[in-house]
Amino acid sequence: MCGIVGAVSQRNIVPILVEGLKRLEYRGYDSCGVAVHQDGGLRRARSTSRVAELQHQAEQDGIAAGTGIAHTRWATHGAPAVHNAHPHFSAGPNAGADAVGRIALVHNGIIENHDELRAELKARGYVFASQTDTEVIAHLIDHHYSGDLLDAVQQALPRLKGAYAVAVFCRDEPHRVVAAREGSPLVLGVGESENFVASDAMALAGVTDQIVYLEEGDVVDLQLGRYWISRLDTTSGRFITVQREVKTVHAHSGAAELGPYRHYMQKEIFEQPVAIANTLDAVTGISPELFGDGAWRVFKEVDKVLILACGTSYYSGSTAKYWLESIAKIPTSVEIASEYRYRDSVPDPKTLVVTISQSGETADTIAALKHARAQGMKHTLTICNVSTSAMVRECELAYITRAGAEIGVASTKAFTTQLVGLFLLTLALAQTRGHLSDEAEARHLKDLRHLPVAVQAVLALEPQVIAWSEEFARKENALFLGRGLHYPIALEGALKLKEISYIHAEAYPAGELKHGPLALVTAEMPVVTVAPNDALLEKLKSNMQEVRARGGQLYVFADGDTAIESEAGLHVIRMPEHYGALSPILHVVPLQLLAYHTACARGTDVDKPRNLAKSVTVE
Ligand code: F6R
Repeated sequence: MCGIVGAVSQRNIVPILVEGLKRLEYRGYDSCGVAVHQDGGLRRARSTSRVAELQHQAEQDGIAAGTGIAHTRWATHGAPAVHNAHPHFSAGPNAGADAVGRIALVHNGIIENHDELRAELKARGYVFASQTDTEVIAHLIDHHYSGDLLDAVQQALPRLKGAYAVAVFCRDEPHRVVAAREGSPLVLGVGESENFVASDAMALAGVTDQIVYLEEGDVVDLQLGRYWISRLDTTSGRFITVQREVKTVHAHSGAAELGPYRHYMQKEIFEQPVAIANTLDAVTGISPELFGDGAWRVFKEVDKVLILACGTSYYSGSTAKYWLESIAKIPTSVEIASEYRYRDSVPDPKTLVVTISQSGETADTIAALKHARAQGMKHTLTICNVSTSAMVRECELAYITRAGAEIGVASTKAFTTQLVGLFLLTLALAQTRGHLSDEAEARHLKDLRHLPVAVQAVLALEPQVIAWSEEFARKENALFLGRGLHYPIALEGALKLKEISYIHAEAYPAGELKHGPLALVTAEMPVVTVAPNDALLEKLKSNMQEVRARGGQLYVFADGDTAIESEAGLHVIRMPEHYGALSPILHVVPLQLLAYHTACARGTDVDKPRNLAKSVTVE
């Protein structure tokens, strides 16, 4: 999703801004831009192409200066077009639409009262050049400007309703950038006599490792070699200076090498054995303390679990529900964060609220967490892949997955490592509640430690999956079936296929087929079936017969010991032996490969599928 980078320095910062944008590219965007303070005025380059093209354009136009801001935009208000791309410039009262004003601004988030502000500013003579909600902020700051940019920003911000992170500079103050956040992430990077802002510390990798995580409502005034952070004091109604800790953050560059792989998604699928091993690295035994100090006391206090997440992370939570109820015997509900945050539910203070997120910045999940807390559920835990993220900072307890940077928009290694974290949580809760014998602990730990090898064996099935993907690439619809613990895996397989190959795919619990979706089954409908050798296998075989009897084409990922054999209309890829409770972690891998190779065969932009963003920081 949108990304911000800004800098105040004595050197030319355009290469740093562009490099920062490249590091944020993986989040997804449809236009980009950079603006600097040059020759006493504002200059910018904007593009609906890639950041590399923007870089070329900026070089050609001789854009170079020590103060500037840059942005990648994921369209919400207004089409992806150059005139809607950030940075936006204010155009003062009575100036023509092309007139260059004095304020340059980039923004992440959504301004909900932009219509009202637009009408007000138009009435004051401001000229709008875009359809964005962002442009109102530039004009509003211009309206309040009387020689002090910080003062103008502080006056403008209380008028905004919604979520934002902004970075602004002014024609009349060459060595100053003011930035602020409310609901969208923003960090300050402190350098040697130069300062930076960015949506993510990763954007500043190699520039500075001295990072301040700005808090909601913070406004930062960046100048050469100094900065101030302020926030509105609700009692006095004035902005007061606040101190924030500077942390040393070794952010990894997002621009990891592809190596022998065609896409980041393929690389990340193949990194899963290492990602799982890293996620388990520090685990020598099961104990609540794996989730942070004081976890034992929290686990003793709670008697139910509420999982909040979005997308793929929601499916890992849905899988964990089966584990938590059958192994830890703790009642568990799983809610889509964007629904839960607005739903009237019945809060119970003895609930452990668990958020799951790769990025740790998903706006809906953070809002759902805050909603749960506001309702009196104070015990919060996150399973998250980014240790410095808002989610980790917001939660009482955390388990950090060690998947490493995930660049492909479609989540893969984050999902399997989340499952590992959730299985550990299940075991720790089971232990606290007296449902984990020493023998069971040792057996589960042994299985967990063997997972990297087991996943590696599944990855070796890639050539067989490629053969199927040629068939799938010609289809426009697909059904996915699973039962029990593997129903969420069928859902995840369908999500992967639809988001990167654009084939319409739906998943059902196999027993539900005859209650409606069976009507869709014809010879043209591939039906992907997840068939582990578990207690529901015989039931699943009956469901498969229902499909065969209607001429449907079955594509089955069957455990080696299921005795399901290929025949006309029944295609089988044989998985290794059944892996017990951890089987979902193996069964999702061929579904990831199927989606990936089908998308490749259809020639889609696998790592940056249309309309999608990696880190969904707006509602
Ligand atoms: C799908 C995908 C998304 C994310 C969702 C939540 O492949 O990646 O569905 O899972 O946007 O993101 P996080 O986990 O960062 O909160």
